[in-house]
Amino acid sequence: MTVSFTTFDRLKRKGITSYKSGDFLAAKTYLVDAAECMIELAESAKSPETQRQHEELAAELIDLAKDCDARHDAVRTGRVKQSEQEDDSGADASDWLVSEKPSIGFEDIAGLENVKDEIRLKMIYPFSHPELAKRYGIATGGGVLLFGPPGTGKTMIAKAIAHEIDAAFYVVSAAQMLSKWVGEAEQNIRKLFVAAKAQPRSVIFLDEAEALVPRRKQDSSSVMQRVVPQILQELEGFERGGDNALLFVGATNKPWMLDEAVLRPGRFDAKIYVGLPDAPARFRMLEIYLGNKPLADDVEFGPLCDRLEGYSGADIRNIAQQAAHRPFMEAVGGKEPRPINWADLLAVLEQTKPSVHPADLVRYDKFAQDGT
Ligand SMILES: Nc1ncnc2c1ncn2[C@@H]1O[C@H](COP(=O)(O)OP(=O)(O)O)[C@@H](O)[C@H]1O
Ligand SMILES: [Mg+2]
Repeated sequence: MTVSFTTFDRLKRKGITSYKSGDFLAAKTYLVDAAECMIELAESAKSPETQRQHEELAAELIDLAKDCDARHDAVRTGRVKQSEQEDDSGADASDWLVSEKPSIGFEDIAGLENVKDEIRLKMIYPFSHPELAKRYGIATGGGVLLFGPPGTGKTMIAKAIAHEIDAAFYVVSAAQMLSKWVGEAEQNIRKLFVAAKAQPRSVIFLDEAEALVPRRKQDSSSVMQRVVPQILQELEGFERGGDNALLFVGATNKPWMLDEAVLRPGRFDAKIYVGLPDAPARFRMLEIYLGNKPLADDVEFGPLCDRLEGYSGADIRNIAQQAAHRPFMEAVGGKEPRPINWADLLAVLEQTKPSVHPADLVRYDKFAQDGT
């Protein structure tokens, strides 16, 4: 089959129209066809650059198609009413502007003391001690970028910030931005900032920031090109000082992919490295995630903590959970229930590699040092 851009464009449009009307099955078919079309176009592209751009576009369409699956499931199982899906562009943004008040606090987060201190200084104390902040000219509000390997507690910290200052918490996920908000991204960013500013205190959390704010020069998608400048503009429009607090917290596992303009000094007040847990933090994680389970006498947190060097918080939580599987299954099978022992933990550890590769850590360190 020879394909043309016209065919591609027709399929893509049909896909997006179906998507917006809530017909996710049809949308998926069109989007997959459009993506295949784009892949063929990529193969016959004249330059490697064009080829790469085509491939990226195809990948975005595939992501959107995957999202259709999830949404179709959600509609089918009644988690989302189909009618709610239809109105993406309406004046009432309440269906997607969900704010919550998180219940996670700093005490639930193991370690990361330097991160907590920096956040206390920049985002928490200025609100809890407004008089002092005024006296010393400490600014309130602004933006913080949390970067570091996956599973180190960035999402947790963002929630904890909102909890600590009793703020409404708005989450913007890049995946959501790219799919649900196709075509209306600018209006939706506007609405988001307007809603957040109307609250006495709010935290806007942009998760997976790298997906949303890629370096413009590498970027092929027009959604991106329109979204990037707007986020920058909204960031610039932050009110400094006063009671109305609007904090912007970005998190990314790939800080080096962010647009340079976003990283420029003055944009984010702080870029904070959220790294792998040190020994005391790992110990605390064991207390949190393993300490609440029945443990045999041969389980000692000290040696276990040493074995867990290089593992992330998410890894450690998973290991703690999996260690309970064997005794649980045995007990379900009719054996006398027994506590988790050292052998259970070793068995899990042998099967579980740290999710963060040491080579990646070098990249984070470099970014922490020189911002590239
Ligand atoms: N410092 C930490 N203290 C306690 N739990 C943690 C920590 N870091 C990670 N975890 C566990 O791992 C899970 C994933 O962490 P998350 O905040 O989503 O990581 P990130 O956003 O950095 O990828 C958390 O829900 C929590 O269970
Ligand atoms: Mg996260």
